[in-house]
Amino acid sequence: MKTVLSGIRPTGNLHLGNYFGALRNFVEMQHEYNCYFFIADLHSLTTHPTPENIQGNVKSVLAQYLAAGLDPEKATIYIQSDVPEVIELYLYLNMNAYIGELERCASFKDKIRLQPQNVNAGLLTYPTLMAADILIHKADFVPVGKDQEQHLEMARTFGNRFNRMYNNEYFTEPQAFNFGKELIKIPALNGAGKMGKSEGDDSTIFLTDKPEVILKKVKRAVTDSGPTVPNQPMTEPIANLFQLMSVVSKPETIEFFRNSYNDCSIRYGDLKKQLAEDMIQFVNPLREKIEEVMSNEKYLSQVTEMGKEKAKASASKTINEVREIIGFRKY
Ligand code: TRP
Repeated sequence: MKTVLSGIRPTGNLHLGNYFGALRNFVEMQHEYNCYFFIADLHSLTTHPTPENIQGNVKSVLAQYLAAGLDPEKATIYIQSDVPEVIELYLYLNMNAYIGELERCASFKDKIRLQPQNVNAGLLTYPTLMAADILIHKADFVPVGKDQEQHLEMARTFGNRFNRMYNNEYFTEPQAFNFGKELIKIPALNGAGKMGKSEGDDSTIFLTDKPEVILKKVKRAVTDSGPTVPNQPMTEPIANLFQLMSVVSKPETIEFFRNSYNDCSIRYGDLKKQLAEDMIQFVNPLREKIEEVMSNEKYLSQVTEMGKEKAKASASKTINEVREIIGFRKY
């Protein structure tokens, strides 16, 4: 069975973009692959969170993963910092990660621009830590968005370099896992861009949003002045609302509004009301499940413990083999 690995930084609440972009697919994948899903809390240290911050966010991401249907019996769901073997591999990989290539990494250049007051060494070596995450379990596939492709390429580079250095074929090359046509784009409510942090909280529907919050956000969604001739092509904000409908509404509902758009009788207020209602129907059961899991401390710590044990079994095997290759004693 091939191994799939995915990490997510614990930045708080997940949104519909996360759900349709990855989470929903992970639920399917856990039956077909040996899956590792982890919360990258070590990576999050680059932005200097408080201990309360970390704890809260790790817990809520974990609860959201579980509520969405990730099964801790099937997949290995763990917290990165519970597996210090990753940190050891990170150190080894850093010994032949070159400053020049790390500085040229697009995400590092972005950070220099966005947070010039905090350009720390952890940011520079972010790709090495990510490579360690991937190589520690010898992952075959990593589901990545465009912004992570370069990091995955660097993981291949570091693995191959290690192999060449020690003249063996120890690490396999991780490949991007492509969801193909199953990948649905979830637009933001502000008429432009994808749903997610960068478009702001008001344009993003979180899995934890209560009905009144969803209603308010959808009501404020950007529209245009309306079609004036039959079958007029849609502007981006309107096409986006229809795109959102396509994931939460019934086909008849979508058809109804499409027809009323095409014959110019549409009232965007009605469209939004319906969209909000259907989104609420979709999000409500998830939100309730998340709340239930969040309040079940015992279950959460059982899951965490189980994930840690499974992840450590795989990671310590790798680290022992790597130590031997490097010329250290095995543990
Ligand atoms: N860098 C990823 C992100 O920001 C998170 C991440 C850390 C990751 N380690 C990983 C993703 C390993 C995939 C594999 O989204």
